[in-house]
Amino acid sequence: MAEVTIRDLSKAYGGVQVIKGLNLDITDGEFVVLVGPSGCGKSTLLRMIAGLEAVTGGDINIGARRVNNLPPSERDIAMVFQNYALYPHKTVAANMGFALKMRGMEAGAIRAKVERAAEVLGLTPYLDRFPRALSGGQRQRVAMGRAIVRDPQVFLFDEPLSNLDAKLRVQMRTEIRELHLRLKTTTVYVTHDQIEAMTMADKIVVMQGGRIEQVGAPLELYDRPANTFVASFIGSPAMNMIEGRIEGGAVLAGGARLAVPAGVQVAEGQEVIFGIRPEFFRPAADGLAGTVAVVEPTGSETHVVVRIQGRDMVAVFRERVTIRPGDAITLAPEAGAAHIFDKASGARLG
Ligand SMILES: Nc1ncnc2c1ncn2[C@@H]1O[C@H](COP(=O)(O)OP(=O)(O)OP(=O)(O)O)[C@@H](O)[C@H]1O
Ligand SMILES: [Mg+2]
Repeated sequence: MAEVTIRDLSKAYGGVQVIKGLNLDITDGEFVVLVGPSGCGKSTLLRMIAGLEAVTGGDINIGARRVNNLPPSERDIAMVFQNYALYPHKTVAANMGFALKMRGMEAGAIRAKVERAAEVLGLTPYLDRFPRALSGGQRQRVAMGRAIVRDPQVFLFDEPLSNLDAKLRVQMRTEIRELHLRLKTTTVYVTHDQIEAMTMADKIVVMQGGRIEQVGAPLELYDRPANTFVASFIGSPAMNMIEGRIEGGAVLAGGARLAVPAGVQVAEGQEVIFGIRPEFFRPAADGLAGTVAVVEPTGSETHVVVRIQGRDMVAVFRERVTIRPGDAITLAPEAGAAHIFDKASGARLG
């Protein structure tokens, strides 16, 4: 186990900067999830930590060692990719032990390590099978097993579950989390999946355009997003955002007067963005008036899309509703649940 420290890290391909002076501290044993839109630099960052990509500027430290110039094999990391090609002509046990064999480890010691990892991953009954005789989830576990047997200081995962079906993903998500609780190996995990990020992470890093927008515990990011980018990126369905202006201490937006939560400093006449999460919208006599466009029952809750002055807002109801498309509806944000952002900078007003 080890901490990972990243200082002023940059990466350019030709003249194009794709990582722009990034700083990040990952503590020993932490499970850190990187999220951000496609192309924001998540894989590049991971590959630089792994040593698969050269650093243009700055430093990467794993434990006490500056690893910038170390080859991947000397960094004591193990990486699991989305496309974890297993050797088709080797058994599960041979696939898992291959890296150790290449290192020259003695056969009995390899067997012991493989058996221990197989037990942790529930792969014991499959050790003598070939990959073609395994399900997708079992193959994914073998790929994880290959990483585990190496006892690395750091695990790096790049969207390891994105080839699995929805149900298997949920199951593997829990398994990876349990594995981490048991092994406590420092982990950096890239995903596109909101729920994966929220449920697995000790700490989420939200990236955009080669920079970090915010770092924090999942619920910290959810409850106090630093800016409109993080606010709209974390949470599904996304936070509703309405442009408005401060008048008489309230936000005038969408034809309604919306209260500013206590403690938020705003200036008279200031242009702001009023943000409200879908679960904090309630039908009310007074508020934002609109027309129901779509009703989406998910079973446990109902998502109602409401068109308000030409904009779609989403409200989520836990209880069953009788609302239908075309209905007139007035929505009010729950008191104190709003987020207020400065329109010009996008920054949260606190
Ligand atoms: N070898 C390369 N040469 C030139 N540009 C590259 C190279 N690899 C990546 N890039 C560019 O660097 C940027 C970051 O890519 P990266 O793969 O890190 O994004 P990502 O956040 O992992 O995206 P995704 O979510 O789609 O996997 C992208 O604009 C990409 O086009
Ligand atoms: Mg990627």
